[in-house]
Parts: sequence; structure tokens; C-alpha cells
Amino acid sequence: MADLRTDSIAFSKSHRDDFLMTLNELLSIPSVSTDTTKTEAMIEAAQWLAGQLTELGMEKVNLYKTPKNPIVYGEWIKLERKPTILIYGHYDVQPADPIELWHSQPFTPTRRGDNLYARGASDMKGQILAVIDAVESIIRSGRLPVNIKWLIEGEEEIGSPNLEDFISEHKDLLKSDYVLNPDNGMLGADDPSITYTLRGLAYFELRVFGPATDLHSGIFGGVIHNPANALAELIAGMHDADGKVTLPGFYSKVVPLNQEERLELNRLPMDDKRYLEQTGAPGLHGEKGYTAIERATARPTLDVNGLLSGFTGSGSKTVIPAWAMAKISMRLVPEQDPKEVHAQLVEYLKANAPEDIRWELTQMAGGTASISDRNSAGVRALEAGMETTWGRKPYFKREGGSVPVVTYMKEHLGIESLLTGFGLPDDNLHAPNEKLHLPTWYRGIESLIHFFFNMAEIK
Ligand code: BES
Ligand code: MN
Repeated sequence: MADLRTDSIAFSKSHRDDFLMTLNELLSIPSVSTDTTKTEAMIEAAQWLAGQLTELGMEKVNLYKTPKNPIVYGEWIKLERKPTILIYGHYDVQPADPIELWHSQPFTPTRRGDNLYARGASDMKGQILAVIDAVESIIRSGRLPVNIKWLIEGEEEIGSPNLEDFISEHKDLLKSDYVLNPDNGMLGADDPSITYTLRGLAYFELRVFGPATDLHSGIFGGVIHNPANALAELIAGMHDADGKVTLPGFYSKVVPLNQEERLELNRLPMDDKRYLEQTGAPGLHGEKGYTAIERATARPTLDVNGLLSGFTGSGSKTVIPAWAMAKISMRLVPEQDPKEVHAQLVEYLKANAPEDIRWELTQMAGGTASISDRNSAGVRALEAGMETTWGRKPYFKREGGSVPVVTYMKEHLGIESLLTGFGLPDDNLHAPNEKLHLPTWYRGIESLIHFFFNMAEIK
């Protein structure tokens, strides 16, 4: 008779179509957390997940209320001598805009070839379901070899504003040996990866005000400072000719990359050519003195995420806008603090904003960078699970994106996160036509099954 591990893998292989159907259900719920008209969808997604956990035989399944979207919790704690793994996920997604660029409806999951297209397919409804499917494969084949808890929030894509309070208020509930966090990606379909650092984030909205109303640019052009021009000047001044951010003190706490790390990072299969292919941009750009992979994952950056001012419809209109707005965010590396970056931006604006305009700055999502232990038994269990599935050892990589929960779990509970995921760099995260590569997703499920069994074997 085959053992439980083998049976579980066999179950997962023979239930791929069922897994896909279940994923389609969740992807059909438009749970866009930044959209205040989607409150019902948020609750629907949370309840749907709670239903899945209940069906799996999880206990204490509950929706915890927060000031915004509920947190889904569930647990299966039966094995005194075995580790407890807390599985993190988020059921919220980014807005689908610009909708007209999608080739199929963002909330009508559509399969084309090996890919499933829908908002959230890769980030991260597909990832959290991969864990649910792995757990189901084991449970239906016998019994889980470790204890598990689930923490699935609905506010990650807006910076997890209510999660830190929840975690600090529920330390006993969330106590565990490791967090399994599949909100990350791989380097390529044949390049399984484990992430060991994430960047932090400091996000702002900057508004510049000029005249009381829009003005005729023939009558008043040349007399007043156009807020759109002034905003562009301010933004342009935020980088110097070497691509460095000019906010006062921006680099003062940045931990320099040591030679060993640089060597290791630059061994990853991410050369300039690959970045060009993945982005479709005519050329690469960034901070002088660093390679593309270093700039994208280990150095801090400042980017405009959105710009709005004046007349943007079709045709032309000669007008001086009354105001201009930019969404600006910085990706942070270890030791940088979003609050300090806020102060640096204020200082920059005070020093550089002209007297003839008025500005307002609002701080939005934020969080610090994180570094995980790469040598824990949990990492070894995950690494071995991926190696068994892909036939090669996973890469250890830094990730340029941000996932606030990682720092919270470490700071409040001292728990390390195992960061992985089965999305690919060309999955169009946060962009039109987000997709999930299904063959990679099925392998991901198998690697997670191995991970749980490997975890049961560690002391
Ligand atoms: N899953 C992503 C983070 C990510 C991006 C991991 C790319 C791996 C590759 C996550 O959902 C995300 O997008 N986070 C936001 C966080 C922010 C709003 C605080 C991000 O990084 O922009
Ligand atoms: Mn995500």
C-alpha cells in the first residue's frame, strides 16, 4: 500500500479540474479592497473562504470584524508533538482598471491555453487556493501530519491597515512555529524560488493647488505658475542625474549590499535581457552603479504611480488647470522607516516647492522591509518540497514587492515567514490581463503537499 504522501500527490493529480472549478468561483467575486463600493463582495469572498475551511474540517472558523474587511480564521490543532504552521493569504485584489485593455472580463475567469485569466488569479487567490488544495489532498487521503492555522485578510492590497492591531491583539490565537506565506512569485516556470527579503513601502498623494478655478491659458498663461508644471518640476527634482533619490537623508539608513550578496543576486537568471523581455520597455533605467536585479530588489526607489491634472479627454483644450495630483511611492529596504521617509518628503517639499503654489501631502499605505532566516528547518522543508517537484533546488531571491504581514508576525510574535508562491513574472500582476500559469500552479500544489509532510519530519 502506498503511503499517505504518495496518495495525497495522486489525489491532487486526479482532482486538477475540481481545483480549477473552485478557483473560478473565488475569482468571480470582485473583491477589490480599495473600491468602497465593493463591501459586499469583500464579505462574500471572506464567507466563501470560511466555507472552504469548514468543509475541510477546520475548527474555530470565524470572520473577525475589522474597521474595514473581515479577517478569516480557522485552525486544525490536533498533534501535540508536531509543528504548527500558520498559513497567510489575502482575498482582496487590485482594481481591474483599465478594463478596456482586458481580452476577457476580469471577474469572469477565462482559460486560454495553459493560462487562466482573471484579476487575482496570480495575486493571490490562486496562491491561497494552492494551499487549500494541498491541504485538501492530504485530508481526503488520510490526515494532516502537522497542525495548521489560517489567517486570510482582505486589505493587503491597500497596505493591511488593520492587520497589525489584529495580530497584536490575538497573539495566543496566532501562535505558531512558522508562517507559510505564498504571496510571492517564482523567477520562471522552471525556476522555483524562495524569497528571503521583501521591500517596504511608503505611499503618498501629493496635491498642488494654483488658481481658484481652471483658467484660459491665453489670458493667464505666463502670469501664474501652472500647478501641473509645478508638480512636474517637483517630481523631476526627486531624482538626480545618477538616478539617486534626492530626498534629504533618504539613503542614510540604507544597509549597503555586501559583496557576497551582490555576487549571489547577480547569479540569478535575471540579466538585462530578461528584464527587457519581461517589461517590453525599449531600455532599462535606474540608479547608477547597480545591476538591474539589485535595483529591482535590494535598492530603494521612488516612483510616480499616477498623475492627474487639467484636460485629458480627446481633442484639445487651452486651459491652465487649477490643481494637479500625483500618487508617489517609495520602495524601501531594510532599516528605512516609512515615517522617516514621510518627514524627508515633507522637508524636500518645504525646500523646493515654489511660493506661488500651495501643496498638500497625504500618507497612504506603508510598511517596513523584511529579511527572513534562510537556514531554518522550515526553509529546508519548503526547499526540499520544491526540489522533489521541480527536480531542481529553488533559487533564493530578494523580492521588490511588499507584504506588510511579514514584519508584523516577526515583531509581535517572533515568527519567521516562509515566503514562496507559484506566480510568474509575466503574470501581469496589478495590470490588465492578469493570469495564472496552470501547469506551474499544479506543481505548486504538489510541492506544498511535500512541504507539509517534510515539516512533520523535522524536530
Ligand atoms: N503579492 C504582492 C507582492 C508581490 C509582488 C510579491 C510581486 C511578489 C512579486 C502583494 O499582493 C502586493 O502587491 N503588495 C503590495 C503591498 C502594498 C500595497 C503595501 C505591493 O507590493 O505593492
Ligand atoms: Mn498579493
